[in-house]
Amino acid sequence: MTPDRVFITEVGPRDGLQNESVVVPLADKVRLVEELAAAGCPEVEVSAFVRPDRVPQLADATGVFGSITKQPGTVYSALVPNIQGFDRACTAGADKVSLFTAASETFSMRNTNTSVAGTIERFRPVVEAATSQGIPVRVYVSCVVECPFEGKISSEQVASVVEQVVALGDVEVDLGDTIGASAPDDIDPLILATRSLVDVDRVVLHLHDTHGGATACARRALELGVRRFDASCGGLGGCPFAPGAPGNVATEDIVTLCHEMGYDTGIDPVQLVATSKWIQNLLRRGNTN
Ligand code: HMG
Ligand code: MG
Repeated sequence: MTPDRVFITEVGPRDGLQNESVVVPLADKVRLVEELAAAGCPEVEVSAFVRPDRVPQLADATGVFGSITKQPGTVYSALVPNIQGFDRACTAGADKVSLFTAASETFSMRNTNTSVAGTIERFRPVVEAATSQGIPVRVYVSCVVECPFEGKISSEQVASVVEQVVALGDVEVDLGDTIGASAPDDIDPLILATRSLVDVDRVVLHLHDTHGGATACARRALELGVRRFDASCGGLGGCPFAPGAPGNVATEDIVTLCHEMGYDTGIDPVQLVATSKWIQNLLRRGNTN
């Protein structure tokens, strides 16, 4: 990656939709993924291979992967919690997998039915299999600033989980502000602690946006050398297992920020906004011009 390039993973089809109670038709999910790729998103997190009864909205993950026309140069990734999810994702045609743990024991238990240490044990066979098959892996660490059950989380708590994650192998570390609690001042200790454990080029920031402050946090992270961000078109998103979790930071806001600061994202803002408006309209969230 060149120094003036920022890599944005579009997580709208997964994080954006997972909290929607009305199931979005498969054809619309496929259209969403294809339009985001056509707009230039270098990576699209297409869906999740979790327990279908826990996230019914994404129970059609195999169908979505089977129906998209892949565009060369785009990475089509999938969220997986364990080896069973990894096997399903590979069979469906995922190019990359995202595992997920947390800096909070309570959130880990609620989200994945096991402790943080339990998630790390589940990850070992996945990282081993993915590495042998040449499939890139990212690992989300949720609740890096605040947990909806435990409250404030220290950067030391985050660092101790990041340490366990990087010991698994060559993985991207994705820091999740699950409930959108961060202010720019929280970003410094978080990124500095993480940067001391893993090359900053392998660090991703995954912001949710409660108070409209996520772009200010992203700006701070850019200043600290972070060049990878997750975002969701139209700011869709939330987590069914984190009460009050708001939408992800909007991809169009991150793209605008990056372009204003002189970074290239490869994403066409006009095409992106057209897609955001369409999906927001579909989900009856207004903004239907
Ligand atoms: P578990 O119940 O502990 O799993 O679930 P288990 O190994 O005990 O198996 C129990 C049953 O589940 C078995 O079926 C397994 O086959 C089945 P049975 O024999 O009883 O019929 N099973 C599966 N089925 C399909 N796919 C699988 C799978 N694994 C087991 N992969 C598990 C553990 C983690 C799977 C479950 O708790 C789960 O699916 N949780 C959903 C978690 C989730 O999707 N959360 C939202 C995404 S995370 C997020 O949004 C945060 C993020 O955006 C970052 C941020 O914002 O911070 C990433
Ligand atoms: Mg999230």
